Amino acid sequence: MSDFNYRDGSLHAEEVALEKIAEQFGTPTYVYSRAHFENQYLAYADALGDHPGLICYAVKANSNLGILSLLAQLGAGFDIVSAGELERVLLAGGDPSRIVFSGVGKTAAEMRRALEVGVHCFNVESEAEMARLELVAAECETTAPVSLRVNPDVDANTHPYISTGLKENKFGIAIDTALDVYRHAAQSPHLQVVGVDCHIGSQLTEIAPFLDALDRLLILIDQLTAEGIQLEHLDLGGGLGVRYRGEEPPPVSDYIGAIKERLGDRQLGLVLEPGRSIAANGGLLLTRVEYLKRAEEHNFAIVDAAMNDNLRPALYQAWQDIVPVTPNNAANEIWDIVGPVCETGDFIGKNRSLALQQGQLLAMLSAGAYGFSMSSNYNSRPRAAEVLVDGDKTYLVRARETQADLVRGESPVPEKRGSK
Ligand code: LLP
Repeated sequence: MSDFNYRDGSLHAEEVALEKIAEQFGTPTYVYSRAHFENQYLAYADALGDHPGLICYAVKANSNLGILSLLAQLGAGFDIVSAGELERVLLAGGDPSRIVFSGVGKTAAEMRRALEVGVHCFNVESEAEMARLELVAAECETTAPVSLRVNPDVDANTHPYISTGLKENKFGIAIDTALDVYRHAAQSPHLQVVGVDCHIGSQLTEIAPFLDALDRLLILIDQLTAEGIQLEHLDLGGGLGVRYRGEEPPPVSDYIGAIKERLGDRQLGLVLEPGRSIAANGGLLLTRVEYLKRAEEHNFAIVDAAMNDNLRPALYQAWQDIVPVTPNNAANEIWDIVGPVCETGDFIGKNRSLALQQGQLLAMLSAGAYGFSMSSNYNSRPRAAEVLVDGDKTYLVRARETQADLVRGESPVPEKRGSK
């Protein structure tokens, strides 16, 4: 994680000491490195080179407007899954014609809005969705660009909760029935077939499962071409993994190089939807130790960040490194790092060897993806602040929530009639 480094005995984000950020903005706070997001995006864009296509950042990984705006400034495309994400991209200055709209449950209102702003395409996930899109496009007197998300039935070899390309998963249209669905779409005056899409899972650290999926898609593409249904692009989804704990994901250039080679001389644009590999190691969660508690079985460090701030350890038993912001020379002990939420599953790390003192700052690393974006207000905890560092500058890209934010839109009810 070269964008977060120790200098003069203290962890820095780019040029800025995390101690200073904690002092200025409090804790818990998500801290992002602009350089990391830019470099990761550019690795994809450069590897794509002059091959036609789009790198569509998966907004769900980290949807802060600061992050979206810096990517929009680099000309990124975006992969969205809701009208909420669509409006975020527009607010951040993203180009709607570079947006792909994924997701299994698009509502008619979401479709209308996406047609109105002119997204690049809808990644259609079922026949029922396609029928609805056709109706909505007809009502709007327009034509919807569609790409079918097919389910290639390959094993992505990742955590079952983030594996999506197997027959038993809810995503996509079974590859065996896709041909018929394309035939129907190709005949509709309100649908324009532009591509094919798949996303087999997340945190993949090998290229082979992507290539298995690609091979299955290419068979379908060749069948479509033979029938005169010419696709403009192939979208292989997101999913390249990152290093959390010793994983060795391949470089982006190897991944894109292997895809291009497989495409051969087919005239197909390439769309990718990376989220985690752009965002994860571009962020950390800064937290302070509130209490140390030595119990018979375990030592607990109770910190001010909790499962509501970062759900990944509780939900997936995910490992993210936790490091001291200012290391000291005291002897390490084994700690469970837990939050204040009233759940046994509320931990951000277990069995961590650290020398801890009450009041010190810790950083939960690799927290730039699926960190803040999966956070909640559980236990009526205001969501954390988000700070973006750019060289020696810091930008508060999301203010810490307040008590008023927590109850916005709620109201007490009047007393029950006759109760007095
Ligand atoms: N495209 C589609 C259609 C997706 O469903 C996803 C992620 C992506 C792209 C981006 O995948 P990535 O490049 O980030 O792997 N919350 C989980 C990850 C869920 C991923 C959901 N879909 C986690 O924290 O590990």
